[in-house]
Amino acid sequence: MEKFLTLDDLDVSGKRVLVRCDFNVPFHNNKILDSTRIDRAAPTLLELMDRGAKIIILSHLGRPHDKNPLLSLKVVQEALSDTLYGTCIHFISDCIGPDVEKAVQNLENGQVLLLENLRFHIEEEQNDPLFADQLAKLGDIYINDAFSTSHRAHASVEALPHRMPIVAIGRLMQAELEALSFVLESPKRPVMGIVGGSKVSTKLQLLRNLIPKLNKLVLGGGMANTLLYAQGFSIGKSLYEESMKDIALDIISFAKERNCELLLPSDVIITPEIKENSPFERTTIENIPENSYIVDIGPTTRRSIIAHLKDCHTVLWNGPLGVFEIPPFDEGSHDIALEVAKRSRDKDLISIAGGGDTVAVLSKMGVLNDFTYVSTGGGAFLEWLEGHTLPGIKCLERTLPEGLHCPLK
Ligand code: 3PG
Repeated sequence: MEKFLTLDDLDVSGKRVLVRCDFNVPFHNNKILDSTRIDRAAPTLLELMDRGAKIIILSHLGRPHDKNPLLSLKVVQEALSDTLYGTCIHFISDCIGPDVEKAVQNLENGQVLLLENLRFHIEEEQNDPLFADQLAKLGDIYINDAFSTSHRAHASVEALPHRMPIVAIGRLMQAELEALSFVLESPKRPVMGIVGGSKVSTKLQLLRNLIPKLNKLVLGGGMANTLLYAQGFSIGKSLYEESMKDIALDIISFAKERNCELLLPSDVIITPEIKENSPFERTTIENIPENSYIVDIGPTTRRSIIAHLKDCHTVLWNGPLGVFEIPPFDEGSHDIALEVAKRSRDKDLISIAGGGDTVAVLSKMGVLNDFTYVSTGGGAFLEWLEGHTLPGIKCLERTLPEGLHCPLK
């Protein structure tokens, strides 16, 4: 983390601290459906409150391109207050302009002001310098705690930190970067990757970047179907990508070349229709009937993955292994998730997971908190695994003059 300042490096007392959070959370009828991203921002916010900062929270919600009352960040005010143990959260219905500047001036040490949705101004997504100037006026220090937005070169994420004298990462960002750097740069070996999801085409770059870093790679979901098809297996009516056949074969040889053991299903669960209560059975991959769909990995495959897992010390998981939305086609992901959770609880395995569907699977299985680290990032997590430099992270790197740790300290 030496590339970044953290809260440890800052004297924030009495300072106006802009904190970029990602409160892009699901909600319905004014109720937050999943407050994970709000809860995970709490350590940074509580620490800043305790240390006497004047906290100004910036976030987006949804994808409006104009003011849209249905996407007002006011919806998170109550949940944020609950997460911060009843702290009063001041809210202002814009994020720039004289009224906002006045509200910031009125803040006392330890108080929290939540600004309105940044994306109510189209300039946010345009990374507009003048919009960023307006935001910069509001603070003395900028802290980014929104890893899950850092793949977006938007004004509050990219242009703004360039305009601030002091920029640092929050505790959540620190935890995300530590977990991801660990798993990609210096994992405890052997390391297993579990990659599921429907399409090879959307995860190609991710596979190319991960394979050289892994000792074993489990593939499931529609992606595995394409690899089985490319190897000449008949996969019935299962989802696969015809155009990816050669690329799938390339992945198989690339894994061999890089000594990454590829674990494809040897047996699967099939059904004539992908819907609830439809009949299903187990079969081996050599015997998949014409009229059936592969919807999950089979029990032999599950046992084999669990046996391989026993040799591993680190696991990185992205993507479900079957049609997890429709039980019982979630059982393959379930069995593997339980094993990973158990070994993680026993401190015998370091487990890192991320991506929207993956978090949904783990949450549905009730094992989210047993994993060593679950990223809040969806798109950002995937782009990091693909090996991209994320614009919102790059701009937080600082080279400080020798002898000077932090200008405000
Ligand atoms: C996310 O939910 O992944 C982030 O908040 C980014 O949202 P976006 O995809 O609308 O930019």
